[in-house]
Amino acid sequence: MFRYLIFLSFLVAGCKSNKIVNTITSPNKQVSLNVNVDAEGKPYYEVSFDGQPAINRSYLGLVFREMDMTKGFEVVNAVQSSYDDTWEPVLGEVARIREHYNQLTVSLKNKEGRTMDVFFRVFEDGLGFRYQIPHQQGLDTVTTEDEISEFAMTGDHKTWWIPGDYDSNEHVYSTTAISKIDAFAYNAPDYEKKIYTQHIVLPNAVQTPLAMKAQNGVHFCLHEAALKDFPALHLRVIRPNTFKASLIPSKDSTIKSVNTLPLLTPWRSINISKDAAGLLTSKLILNLNDPCAIKETNWIKPQKYVGIWWEMHIGKSTWEYGVRQASNQSIIKPHGRHGATTENTKRYIDFAAAHGFDGVLVEGWNQGWEDWFGKWQDSVFSFTSPYPDYDLDYLAKYAREKGTRLIMHHETSSAVTNYESQMKAAFDVMNTHDVTTVKTGYVGKIIPKGEWHDGQWMVNHYLRVATSAADHKIMVNMHESHRPAGMNRTYPNWLSCEASRGMEFNAWSAGNPPEHETILPFTRIMGGGFDYTPGIFETRMNVYNKDKKEIVHTTVAKQLALYVTLYSPLIMAADLPENYSKRLDIFQFIKDVPADWQDTRILNAKIGDYLTVARKDKRSENWFLGSITDENARQYDVTLDFLDEGFTYDATVYEDGEGAHWQNNPYPVRIRKVVVKKGDQLPLRLADGGGVAVSIMKRK
Ligand code: NOJ
Ligand code: CA
Repeated sequence: MFRYLIFLSFLVAGCKSNKIVNTITSPNKQVSLNVNVDAEGKPYYEVSFDGQPAINRSYLGLVFREMDMTKGFEVVNAVQSSYDDTWEPVLGEVARIREHYNQLTVSLKNKEGRTMDVFFRVFEDGLGFRYQIPHQQGLDTVTTEDEISEFAMTGDHKTWWIPGDYDSNEHVYSTTAISKIDAFAYNAPDYEKKIYTQHIVLPNAVQTPLAMKAQNGVHFCLHEAALKDFPALHLRVIRPNTFKASLIPSKDSTIKSVNTLPLLTPWRSINISKDAAGLLTSKLILNLNDPCAIKETNWIKPQKYVGIWWEMHIGKSTWEYGVRQASNQSIIKPHGRHGATTENTKRYIDFAAAHGFDGVLVEGWNQGWEDWFGKWQDSVFSFTSPYPDYDLDYLAKYAREKGTRLIMHHETSSAVTNYESQMKAAFDVMNTHDVTTVKTGYVGKIIPKGEWHDGQWMVNHYLRVATSAADHKIMVNMHESHRPAGMNRTYPNWLSCEASRGMEFNAWSAGNPPEHETILPFTRIMGGGFDYTPGIFETRMNVYNKDKKEIVHTTVAKQLALYVTLYSPLIMAADLPENYSKRLDIFQFIKDVPADWQDTRILNAKIGDYLTVARKDKRSENWFLGSITDENARQYDVTLDFLDEGFTYDATVYEDGEGAHWQNNPYPVRIRKVVVKKGDQLPLRLADGGGVAVSIMKRK
C-alpha cells in the first residue's frame, strides 16, 4: 500500500482568469481535462480521451433562489493535487481497488463576492466533478432551483436509456441515438404498462447511469457518486448531442434542494473507455465515494437467500392474510391463501438449511397487507406485529438452529413517515430475533405527499435507513430506491438495491426482453449491486394458471449465468423450492456460486448483445463464468488465461441443451464436465436468449 498527495497551486489570486487554461490529465495521460471561464464568466470544462475530443465545452454551475452561480465568475485559484492509494472493499467484485487520480480544485468568485469551488478528479477510467458552495456572507442556507452541469458529447452517440421518471426506474431500456430520445414514445409500450407508479414529465429527460457509444467505439457512462442530501440526478437533452443535469423537485416543484452552507454536492461521474468491457472494470464511481464510515465491518457478509416471494408474484399465495369483513372492517377473515405461514416458512427454512443458504426472506409476515396497494394511505403497515398465523419468535429461533436466518421484510407502500416512526422499534425487533438483513420497499406514491422517489427528501430517507440499520448491525436490500451511486463503499451494509426492472416483471407483465440483462451491467449496475432475483427454472406462468401468458424471457441456462453477469453481494435463488428439487443437478451451480469476489474479468462485452464474465471467489481459489446473449444465438471461444499456471481445474459447464430457445424451448440444460488449465480455450454455445454458466474448481 502506498499513498501520496501532492499539492500545486497554479494561480495567484488576482490573475486575469479568462486568459488562463487549467489543464490536468489522468495519471496515465489518457484523459485530459480543461477548465476555464468564458467571456461572460461562465465556467466550463472540456475533456479529451486518447488525444481526441470526448466532451466538448460544457458549462457548469448552480442556480440558487438566493444567487445565480452560473456566470460572472473569475477563477481566483486553481490547485492541483494527486492521490494514489489502494483500498479493500468489504464486499465487492475485486479484493483491492486502486484509487489513483489527479485533482484540480478551481475556486471561482463573482462580482458580488460569491464564491464556488469545483473539484475535478481525473482517473484513468474517467472523471468526476462536484461543487462546493462555502459559507457566504449573509447566507446560511441555499435553495437549489437548477443545476446546469452540461455533458456536451461530440456526436449523436448511441444511448441505452430509460425515461426520466421521478418515481420509477423499472423501465425497459430503449436503444437510440441521443437525437431520438423521447421519454414519452420509448420503443416498448407493451413492456411498460405494469409500472404502477410513474411520473414522466419531460420528453427529453432520461435517468442515469446513462451508457453511450460513440462512432469511434469509445464508450461513456454518465452517473453520480456520493449522493447525499441532494436529489438524484437525471439528464435532459438541451441541444444536439448535449445533456444537462435535471434534478428531481421536492414537494414545491420550483425547489430541487435546500441545504445549509457549506454545500458539497454529489459527484457527477463520467466514465470513458475504449470499449464496453472497460465500463465494467472501472471503479470510478466507487472511488468517488467516501471511505467506509462503519468502524467494525466483520458482521457484514455476502448473502445468498431463498424466500416466500416468487409464489406471491406468480399468484400461488398472497401477501395478505385475508379479507376485511364488509360488516366489520376491523375483522380480517383468513382466506387460506396466505404465503407467510409458520408452516410454509419452516419448509423454506428446511430447504435453505439443506442447501446452504444464508437467509430466508419472508414477505407478507406483518399486518397491513390488506390495505397496502394503491390507496396512498399512511399508517397501513406495522413493522413489529406479525399476522396471527406467523410465529416470528419460533421461526427466528428455528432458522438459527438450522444454521440459517430469516430475512426481514419492510414494505412501506411509500408511507415513509409511518416507516420512520417505527424504524427503530422494527430494527430492535430484528436485533432481538438475531435477524441481520432487511429488505425495504417503496411501492406507490410517496407520503409525505408531493415528494418523489428520486427527490432530496427520499434520498435523505434511504440514507437514514442505511445508517440506522448500520447502528443496529443490520444489512439492507432496498427496493424502489434511487439508483445506487457507489455508496456501498461508505456504507457496506447497504448491500444491494433493486432500483431497476427486476425478474418480477416476467411474472405478471410483458416482462423483460431478452436483451435486458445484457444492458443492465452497463447502466443500472454501474452504481452498485442489483437484487435482480435470478434463478427461475419454471419459466412459464401457465404452468401455475393455464390462462396466463407471461413467461421469463430467457433459457434456464441463462438464468444460471446471471449469477455471474449481474453483480450483487446479495443474491436470491428466486424460484420455488419444489422447482429446484426437480432439477438438483443444475441447482448445484446456484449452490456453488458465491456472492463476493476477489477478481473479475470481462471476457467479451457488447451492450445490448452479449456479455461474458469470469469471477474468482473471495474465499476460495475457484472461478465462475457466466455468458449471456440477447435474443440471438451466439458462439464464441474464451481463453481461460486467468487460471493459475501449473494447476488443474474441474470445470462443470451448464449450457443450453439441444434445441433450447428462450421462447419455444427454455428448459434444456446440458451439463458437461471438463478438466481445464490456464490458457485452454473454452467453446461457449448460447441459444437464442440463452447463456452458459461454468464452475471452475481448482484441484488441491
Ligand atoms: C416490489 C418489490 O420489488 C418486490 O420484490 C416485492 O415483493 C413487492 N414490492 C412487495 O413488497
Ligand atoms: Ca420493484
